[in-house]
Amino acid sequence: MNIQELINTAKWLVANHKGILAMDESFPTCNKRFAKLGIPQTEEYRRAYRELIVTTPGLGEFISGAILFDETIRQKTKDGTPMLKVLTDAGIIPGIKVDLGAKDMAGHSGEKISEGLDGLRDRLIEYYKMGARFAKWRAVLVIGREIPSYACIEANAQALARYAALCQEVGLVPIVEPEVLMDGSHTMERCFEVTEEVLHAVFDQLYTQGVLLEGMILKPNMVLPGLACLKQDSDEAIADATVKCLLRAVPAAVPGITFLSGGQTAELASARLNAMNVRFKSQLPWELSFSYGRALQQPALEIWRGKEAKVLKAQQALYHRAKCNFAARKGIYTAGMEKA
Ligand code: 13P
Repeated sequence: MNIQELINTAKWLVANHKGILAMDESFPTCNKRFAKLGIPQTEEYRRAYRELIVTTPGLGEFISGAILFDETIRQKTKDGTPMLKVLTDAGIIPGIKVDLGAKDMAGHSGEKISEGLDGLRDRLIEYYKMGARFAKWRAVLVIGREIPSYACIEANAQALARYAALCQEVGLVPIVEPEVLMDGSHTMERCFEVTEEVLHAVFDQLYTQGVLLEGMILKPNMVLPGLACLKQDSDEAIADATVKCLLRAVPAAVPGITFLSGGQTAELASARLNAMNVRFKSQLPWELSFSYGRALQQPALEIWRGKEAKVLKAQQALYHRAKCNFAARKGIYTAGMEKA
């Protein structure tokens, strides 16, 4: 394990107010988003869409790393350039999603366990050789009546820690993503309780498995009310709750925390990250950044809709979202940026 390489990569991913772009939707997720907009769900349309993203002019000004799906890391642009090379030429480090999806957990109705540990070492070695320098594994925790159970939290935390240890062995920085879903009518306070419990379990397992905290990135949810909760808290209240929860559970040795967007609108994801950095940036041991999927891509996808003539406009929308979140990291994002 090259400890210094891991530490350097992890630090680099959260340096200079840049953030990570998640563009690693699996076949079912990508196809579902395409279907909603009437875009054909074929390999060629997925390739064209990912080409649109990676060739966005200036993306590297705001984006430090991009998380790819296995299909994309092997694909090329129309002119034959590997997607990986386009990214590295733009100064963006390629990363790779390596879990094989959240599956129903046996004996635990409504709960999920992420799969993909079998054979993982060999897959990671291949991705490193291809040029990836970091990886992602997503665990999913659902809030409901009496769930998540401790059995689900512990099993997912252990899988995350085993994945992270394997990543570091081959030189990949693990992004550790325990996502407490926003779906449901639970309050922000309930999300706080669950997120705190999950993060404690995750860091307990990371410690047990000997994961180098300085060479990893945490990708958590923000502490939010459920999408169907009647009380929707202010951005400031969400910022306070999220930072309070993270301060209780995330060791200071971790270099960066990069939030997922999880179904928030693009504007809210920027405003809430901004509120955290305005209120706490100078007092925190870790960088607070973004690793958004939908909150960076959705406006661009809605413009593109599979039409070649819309590529430039869609790229401008992606560039704009990246710029807004770069500003949110500095605490200088304003609603006015959305009108420009
Ligand atoms: P969202 O920002 O759309 O939640 O996606 C982030 C991600 O990588 C989920 O695994």
